[in-house]
Amino acid sequence: MSRSAHPAGPRHADVLTEGHYSAPPADLNVLDPKIWSSTVGRDADGRLTVGGLQVTRLAEEFGTPAYVLDETDFRERCRAWADAFGREADVFYAGKAFLSRAVVRWLREEGLNLDVCSGTELATALDAGMPAERIAFHGNNKSEAEIRRAIEAGVGRIVLDSFQEIVRVAHIARELGTVQKAFIRVTVGVEAHTHEFIATAHEDQKFGIALADGLAAEAVRRALKLDGLELVGVHSHIGSQIFDMAGFEVSARRIVQLLAEVRDEHGVELPEIDLGGGLGIAYTSDDDPCEPHEIAKALTEIVTRECDAAGLRVPRISVEPGRAIVGPTAFTLYEVGTIKPLEGLRTYVSVDGGMSDNIRTALYDAEYSVSLVSRTSTAEPMLVRVVGKHCESGDIVVRDAFLPADLAPGDLIAVPATGAYCRSMASNYNHALRPPVVSVSEGSARVIVRRETEEDLLRLDVG
Ligand code: LLP
Repeated sequence: MSRSAHPAGPRHADVLTEGHYSAPPADLNVLDPKIWSSTVGRDADGRLTVGGLQVTRLAEEFGTPAYVLDETDFRERCRAWADAFGREADVFYAGKAFLSRAVVRWLREEGLNLDVCSGTELATALDAGMPAERIAFHGNNKSEAEIRRAIEAGVGRIVLDSFQEIVRVAHIARELGTVQKAFIRVTVGVEAHTHEFIATAHEDQKFGIALADGLAAEAVRRALKLDGLELVGVHSHIGSQIFDMAGFEVSARRIVQLLAEVRDEHGVELPEIDLGGGLGIAYTSDDDPCEPHEIAKALTEIVTRECDAAGLRVPRISVEPGRAIVGPTAFTLYEVGTIKPLEGLRTYVSVDGGMSDNIRTALYDAEYSVSLVSRTSTAEPMLVRVVGKHCESGDIVVRDAFLPADLAPGDLIAVPATGAYCRSMASNYNHALRPPVVSVSEGSARVIVRRETEEDLLRLDVG
């Protein structure tokens, strides 16, 4: 996570212990295009508009809290990834970031493929008409039922995550009288510079099979022998919310080295490699993420160079961006409920959601931005902590930010860049009803995931 400490400016700065905040922006009303989706602006009365619609109208019609997803921006990002990688590579959107039927349809229309990591994500993808051959199935502990379902559906690839799974998938495929295309997920031993919980390529963690000690080579050896499997490639995902390309480059290099070893030992050139997802996005104005064409260029160059050096044919590359596609496309719209200035400390602004709709701040110490969106204001900046309504003091949505000092109950505020890992990690803590996802495009809005109701929750409670 990026972290910016700045000593200047805020009221009560002298007594703050954590210093996560930046100086207030010159103008609190400006919406930084880096952290808001592409159709966001303000109308003549200062209200935020998205997809041509005023947030005040969206709040009236759909209520708050709500995730507001900019379909135009989502499609633009899909195209940017597809164009950056061109015909020589495949882009798999990582559905764990956010998945719904509408999203699957957009992906299908924009020519992207889809990575799923549970039977239910798979069901959603198939239900919304994603062709099975465009689906990759991931997970470190897929159940036999999930594997069977994936093979029966005809998924394009299963990413094998352990020695047991190599045997399990081969066995089920043979039973079903088919041969399943598969990748082996390799742990390349890279320390990605991101939060510990979302770094996945150092050796001491649950995913994949380590390159170290020849384990990955042994996995390839076994997979190549099994009838039910067609091993088409190796896969590496080094982590998430990464800004530094160096980790991807090391990973690409090590994967190509493995391909060369496999060629030397078995006389087989595996035709594909998957370099995973993980590209970071801007959550605050201090973050400077890479663009898809930059990552495409860097990865293609390194793979080509390493393959040339090893005398290998350049394999087909695939990547799996999740956050970088959906993250910046949505914001969470909240209504301010209470405002509590703590003299000498900071002002707590409570909204009508919280850690149940965005657990990332509590879980990863993630940073977010926030803006007043139902109007503009010329009041001085006030250092705030935006908190939710849950019974927990760690229920923080935005740890340190600035809002105008005339903020009042009933104002609408919005937290941008909440498209990834917010709705998909939402919970019913305190029996919160998970907010809807409202998609907006060219002057119209529609609910793509509806708000939960009391009846939804009570229906599950069968005691
Ligand atoms: N491919 C694989 C195999 C993955 O495990 C992931 C993410 C992705 C692709 C997509 O990564 P992305 O491009 O979205 O960074 N809940 C955490 C993120 C966990 C990521 C898990 N795997 C968060 O909120 O930051």
